[in-house]
This record gives sequence, structure tokens and C-alpha cells, in this order.
Amino acid sequence: MPNDRLVIRRPDDWHVHLRDGAMLKAVLPFTARQFGRAIVMPNLKPPVTHAADAVAYRDRILAALPDGVAFTPLMTAYLTDGTDADDLARGFEDGVFAAAKLYPANATTNSAHGVTDVARIAPVLERMAEIGMPLLIHGEVTDPSVDIFDREAVFIDRILAPLLDRHPSLRVVLEHVTTSDAVQFVRAHAGSGRIGATITAHHLLINRSHIFQGGIRPHLYCLPIAKRETHRVALVEAATSGEGPFFLGTDTAPHTVTAKEAACGCAGCFTAANALELYAEAFDEAGALDRLEAFASLNGPRFYGMPANEERVALERRPSVTPDVLLVSEGDAVLPFRSGETLRWSFAGVV
Ligand code: DOR
Ligand code: ZN
Repeated sequence: MPNDRLVIRRPDDWHVHLRDGAMLKAVLPFTARQFGRAIVMPNLKPPVTHAADAVAYRDRILAALPDGVAFTPLMTAYLTDGTDADDLARGFEDGVFAAAKLYPANATTNSAHGVTDVARIAPVLERMAEIGMPLLIHGEVTDPSVDIFDREAVFIDRILAPLLDRHPSLRVVLEHVTTSDAVQFVRAHAGSGRIGATITAHHLLINRSHIFQGGIRPHLYCLPIAKRETHRVALVEAATSGEGPFFLGTDTAPHTVTAKEAACGCAGCFTAANALELYAEAFDEAGALDRLEAFASLNGPRFYGMPANEERVALERRPSVTPDVLLVSEGDAVLPFRSGETLRWSFAGVV
């Protein structure tokens, strides 16, 4: 039954938190079994700021891979006020860094060393534009007087639009977009070919009301926080449009249950356990399964100037149950997004 089986080129995850140590070992197999490559976020403690840190981290990732799994981690540099343009450029030109990540200081998890003012890294951005190194942006202002639900839209107006004007050839990915404002902004710049946007599975599936359904649901709390339903609808429409700038980035961000279920819980949804099934659910709901391949497997590599993967993976329309808690180490566990719930699609592996 052709409608019950979907074969697409093997996808890539253009935004993933793999962490380190026991957590890396626990979560990596999930990402690596579905995705051919992943853009690995550098917000470790301490952050990945230099090429040597990235090489060592990449080695730890490769060492944690299950036997026989083909997976390529693409490393990123964590920008700070002190990033040296020559050092960063060398890391890119040597093939260590695929991109650099801009965290506004204190915007999210492990971002304390982030950039306090983009003006401070103007020479770095200039150099990145010259060499074609993509800038990946966590697009939220950190001004506490700005409402948390407005921080992405305000970032676009106050920071991103002027930054693109100041650096007209810089290539930029606005990560994990959560608003119709971001979708519109990306579309308005699509002609230039220099802007992309990742969209997570959870932002396609939940709106802000879900975070408070019947009580506070810490496992649905992430940053940028999910917005109202109209924004979720705009994200689904963008993801399923097939348009080149929109591509898959799960932002899977595991934290232990203890760290999530706390008086001040950490931000992040762990979606790697069944990321493709979650995206398939959203695309199926929108009647757009025929666009999943463009979003998951073609648009990202095109933006990054890489070939699409040659392998294919299959998804089948038969129920799958999201795994229950995942034990990371003695006493530490991670709860997958939609844990224990049944989804309509199943991942049938590389075919
Ligand atoms: O929800 C999030 N979790 N958003 C981020 O930007 C960071 C991430 C993490 O590292 O936990
Ligand atoms: Zn992230």
C-alpha cells in the first residue's frame, strides 16, 4: 500500500544537543539511527569555543556511536565576546567547524558565555561572511522587560534585521523558529538564498496551552517557548510548504528528570527517541507527507552546500509507542517527549 509506506532520502538533523559523558552515550544512538548527519550544538560546560575542543568532542561522539552505525557529527563553534576571527576561520577552513553558533548571553541553557552585544563580534561576522561560514542564531532577546512570548519577534526587529543589513553576504540560520513573525521574515529574505530556518517537531505539535494543560508540564518547557496556536499553524504551513529555507532541526535537548521537574526546571524537550515519527505525525495531520523529504532531507544540505544523503529510510503507517523513561546512569533518567503515547507512524530503518 503506497500510502502506508514512505521512503525518503535519509534525513539530517540540523540542530541537536548531544551533551557529553553518560548522557551522550544514552542519547546518541537515537539520533544516529535516523539521521545521516547532525549539526551538534556547542553549549557544553565549558563550551566548545576552539577547534581543538571540537575535534576532541567529535572524537568522543564517534567513540560513543554504536557499532555499524553511519553517522557524521558536524561541529559548531560557540561564539563569545572574545572569539578570535582568525582562529575561527582556521577551524572552518580546516573542516573542523561547519558553522558558528550565536547565543545571546544568558538566553538559554549554558549560554552564560554567549555574546553580550552583537556589535562586539562584528569583525568575526565580517570574516564569516567572507569565507561563507554560516551563523546559527538563537533568536531571542534577553531583556527581562520583554515578555517571554515576544522575545523572538523582538529579536528579529532589534537584532536580526539590522545584523543582516550590516553584513549583506553573511549566511544565517534562524534556529528553532516559533512564530509567524519569524516565518514571514525568513520568507521576505528567501530570495537572497542566505537565510535558513530550522523547525523542531515539538513546535509543530504543541502550542503554549499544552504547557499548562491540567497543571504545569515541565517536559514541554523549552526555549524559545512554544507560542499560541496561530504561530504553531504558521510553522506547520512553513515546514510543509517545501520552500527551501525551511528545514529539519529537532533541537532535541535532553535534561534529567530531576533537572526538569524542579522549582526552576531546565529548558529542553528530548525528541530524539522518535524524531522522524513525530515529524511524520505533523506532516500527516497537514496532509503533506509528500513534502517531508524536502524538509527533512533536501533543503538542509542545499543550504549548507552539501550533497543530500544517498541512503533511503522508510516510515510505515503503523502505530509506534514513544519509549518510556530512558535510564542515563544510576538514578538519572530522561523522559522523551510524548513518552508512552502512541503515534501513527513507525520508523522502519535504512532501506
Ligand atoms: O530548550 C532549549 N534547550 N533551548 C535551548 O536553546 C537550549 C537547549 C539546551 O541546551 O538544553
Ligand atoms: Zn538548541
